Amino acid sequence: MAGTSRDTGIKGFCTVEQHILSKQGEHPHATGAFSSVLTGIMLAGRIISAKVRRAGILDVLGETSEVNVHGEQQQKLDQIANKALETCLCYRESVGIIASEELDEPRIVRETSGKYVIIFDPLDGSSNIDVNVSVGTIFSIFERGTHNGAGHDHLADVLQPGRKQVAAGYIVYGSSTVMCYSTGEGVHMFTLDPSVGSFLLAQENVRMPVTGKYFSVNEGNYESFPRGVQEYLTWCKSPDAGPYNARYIGSLVADFHRTLLRGGVFLYPPTAKSPKGKLRLMYEANPIAMIAEQAGGKATDGTTDILDKAPTSLHERTPLFVGSVREVERVQEYMKRVGG
Ligand code: F6P
Repeated sequence: MAGTSRDTGIKGFCTVEQHILSKQGEHPHATGAFSSVLTGIMLAGRIISAKVRRAGILDVLGETSEVNVHGEQQQKLDQIANKALETCLCYRESVGIIASEELDEPRIVRETSGKYVIIFDPLDGSSNIDVNVSVGTIFSIFERGTHNGAGHDHLADVLQPGRKQVAAGYIVYGSSTVMCYSTGEGVHMFTLDPSVGSFLLAQENVRMPVTGKYFSVNEGNYESFPRGVQEYLTWCKSPDAGPYNARYIGSLVADFHRTLLRGGVFLYPPTAKSPKGKLRLMYEANPIAMIAEQAGGKATDGTTDILDKAPTSLHERTPLFVGSVREVERVQEYMKRVGG
């Protein structure tokens, strides 16, 4: 399916499932196992979207009595979203391991069979849900197959660098529900049509603008940002720079989605409270970085490309600077010159 949706004339008529199948047709050895994973994620996305849309009239708002592995109070919708993904994925033969922000440890779904490892943040930005602000689901997919002599090395299967992702994507539950995914051949965007119950193609081969006059950061933490980041932000607000516009939602998926379409830069630097950064490498930074790079953008922790980082634990954190190539490079220049 070459070219843009306008070329093919299928905009508004092509579901994610059809899109994956058409791509599968271009790979003669494809077995359908991967399509099965992605359709599982889409099903969960529709379930989560339906709950989010009716959050005020269902008993799903507010906190549970439980605290997750990060010491954060779990929201009811976090648990519902996690359950939806677990349920929709685990009965599929091609799923070997799942790992989630809401699970302390990876769950081995099939000891030896099950070709894929799926890592997800079921409901990112969920503290925003009670106030009707956009939230999202983020996912990352690896192939498993690491052996340690005695058999499968499940942990090594999970702790792979982002560069090895075979696919990644996110669903943003915003003014409409939108899904973006990549299998390493560009980024494709779909909108959920609730009247049909399917994600329909909105745009193929989405490209992130090379520049963009937006900066997106929680400036409440300004005092403990690295000097280079502070000076970069001062420059953004100077007449020299234009100045730039500030935009910060506080939901990574929503802030990134705007950055993907409009350009600019999203920053979550190290802070006094989170010296290694706040965002999680495996189920926030890695999938977002794959989408960014596939759309022509850039994602770094300040010095190393996010996709080249070697993970050491499922829930590890990382600083994240992601967005238009030129804007991310400028942040890096400041950090190099002034201090990271
Ligand atoms: O990691 C969860 C998250 O809500 C992200 O979606 C978001 O980018 C970030 O935290 C917001 O953090 P803060 O409230 O510190 O700005």
